[in-house]
Amino acid sequence: MFVSFLLVVIVVCHHALPECPVGWFGSLCNKICRCENLECETDGECKTKRCLPGFFGKQCQYVDSIMSAEVSQEELKSRNATKCQTSFIALSPLVIKFNSETRISGIQIEGFAEEDLLGLALTFVQTPNKSCYKGPCQRRRDIYLDPNTLVINCDIGNYVCQLNITFEETKIERRLCAVYVRGGRNLALKQVTTMSTSTVNETGMVSDGSLAVDGRLDECAATRDDDPYPTLILHFYSSVVLSEIVIYFRPSKESQIFLLQLHADENDTIMEYRGEVHPRVSLVPTPDRFIRILELSLQHANAQMTVCELEAYGECAPPMFGPDCTDICSLECKNYTCSYEGYCRYCKNQTKALHCVDCLKGCGARDKIKTETTDYVISGLRVSPVLSYIMIIIFICVLIMATTDGVRGFLARKNTLVQKYTKEVEKKKPAKRRNTWTKKDSIRRLTFQAPSTEQIGDFLLLQSINSFPSTESLPSETSI
Ligand SMILES: *[C@@H]1O[C@H](CO)[C@@H](O)[C@H](O)[C@H]1NC(C)=O
Ligand SMILES: *[C@@H]1O[C@H](CO)[C@@H](O)[C@H](O)[C@H]1NC(C)=O
Ligand SMILES: *[C@@H]1O[C@H](CO)[C@@H](O)[C@H](O)[C@H]1NC(C)=O
Ligand SMILES: *[C@@H]1O[C@H](CO)[C@@H](O)[C@H](O)[C@H]1NC(C)=O
Ligand SMILES: *[C@@H]1O[C@H](CO)[C@@H](O)[C@H](O)[C@H]1NC(C)=O
Ligand SMILES: *[C@@H]1O[C@H](CO)[C@@H](O)[C@H](O)[C@H]1NC(C)=O
Ligand SMILES: *[C@@H]1O[C@H](CO)[C@@H](O)[C@H](O)[C@H]1NC(C)=O
Repeated sequence: MFVSFLLVVIVVCHHALPECPVGWFGSLCNKICRCENLECETDGECKTKRCLPGFFGKQCQYVDSIMSAEVSQEELKSRNATKCQTSFIALSPLVIKFNSETRISGIQIEGFAEEDLLGLALTFVQTPNKSCYKGPCQRRRDIYLDPNTLVINCDIGNYVCQLNITFEETKIERRLCAVYVRGGRNLALKQVTTMSTSTVNETGMVSDGSLAVDGRLDECAATRDDDPYPTLILHFYSSVVLSEIVIYFRPSKESQIFLLQLHADENDTIMEYRGEVHPRVSLVPTPDRFIRILELSLQHANAQMTVCELEAYGECAPPMFGPDCTDICSLECKNYTCSYEGYCRYCKNQTKALHCVDCLKGCGARDKIKTETTDYVISGLRVSPVLSYIMIIIFICVLIMATTDGVRGFLARKNTLVQKYTKEVEKKKPAKRRNTWTKKDSIRRLTFQAPSTEQIGDFLLLQSINSFPSTESLPSETSI
């Protein structure tokens, strides 16, 4: 009785979340709506069940990089409200050629039948005059969302230019319905920003740091032109692991040098990078580092810095996941690393299930995957009904804490927990990697080089429009 009363309280509290402005959702209204016609439910799912073109996945938060790519069969891009409304006969190899160097984490393939998804191989190919990863899908993990939908994740510490999908036997006729390419999720949107100075234009519009994280390229954050140290600082609500940082500057007439620093906390600089200001600058940070703060500054006193958008693609730092990085990955996930949906990045023992559990007979490719509705699944953890009562009580305590101190206070407490975890993980890392880079190093890194396996831990890649490196400076192929 008491429990059901509290459940009612929870439901009421849940629905008492603030109404967000059109185009935004989430408990802090900081998730951008990517649904068709910008019609999002309060939980971010789409009213029409369709995403804006170029987005897909949970709450349509992932960029679908195939939409801007050249493909060998146009049907790869077909998107219908119902899965497999249309299908086509796929010819090996399926070729996806990206327009520019792109960061991806994997693909999602919808087959007409289960057999159509067997024996697929992914190969990344280099294209002329571009520096990209070349080779197979490394540390591949296959996940079946349902028997006809396969997600293939790869670890690629570099940009990619072209992807070939080949079939083991070319004799059998394969029917596919659609292919998606997961391009990343921007975590910078509506995070907290501070800027050294801001400007006010004639109409009274204040160009402060928030305009750099508003999801719009046409409204820019600008410092005053007499700012002695033009700086923009972005604080993430919780630690993140980043795969790409993209900065859209509005360059001034004279060439300028920017400095980007990545901090684990106020006093711990993990990486820094210097580069020339261009309309679009893309950086690939060292993988697996937990980042809390981005600090972008200009290396010129009394100059105006104008940032139209600062994007940070990545995931919540382990062990967290979810829209606000407040859910905890399944204990079965290796290194507590999982996706936005809570699917494990790796399993301890190669199972193909979403949460590394719930498989019949060891999860071979042909084995049916047990649906999760038969158990309670809370944040990727499978719990018995008795345990779920305990979980509910814990949840209520957390809720009471959250409502008394506000969401921020709750997030802060969670963050100290995560920091503790982070410190433990960091302790285990070799001390060498904690070195911050000297000025000399940073300048050396300005020469564009595709890193080898050894280098990748210490290098950032830079890619900016108008400034592609000449062919001479590019190695003929990357060996990763
Ligand atoms: C399904 O997708 C195909 C290919 O993109 C398109 O021609 C067709 O109109 C779509 N059907 C619906 C109902 O959206
Ligand atoms: C590659 O670069 C060279 C020299 O800059 C140029 O001549 C050639 O056309 C480029 N090739 C492609 C495919 O862009
Ligand atoms: C990728 O596909 C293209 C087009 O069919 C082919 O020319 C190329 O050899 C393939 N590369 C690899 C590595 O499979
Ligand atoms: C002031 O800023 C707003 C928003 O960026 C813009 O729409 C407007 O045109 C600006 N006014 C002037 C005079 O620049
Ligand atoms: C950073 O260092 C300053 C001065 O040493 C100290 O007061 C502050 O508490 C430190 N901040 C963190 C988050 O450790
Ligand atoms: C998991 O963490 C251990 C050390 O904590 C590390 O050696 C290993 O590479 C990590 N595994 C993955 C899949 O990241
Ligand atoms: C994977 O883990 C489960 C649970 O611990 C165990 O039953 C199973 O035998 C393991 N599979 C392999 C292939 O090690």
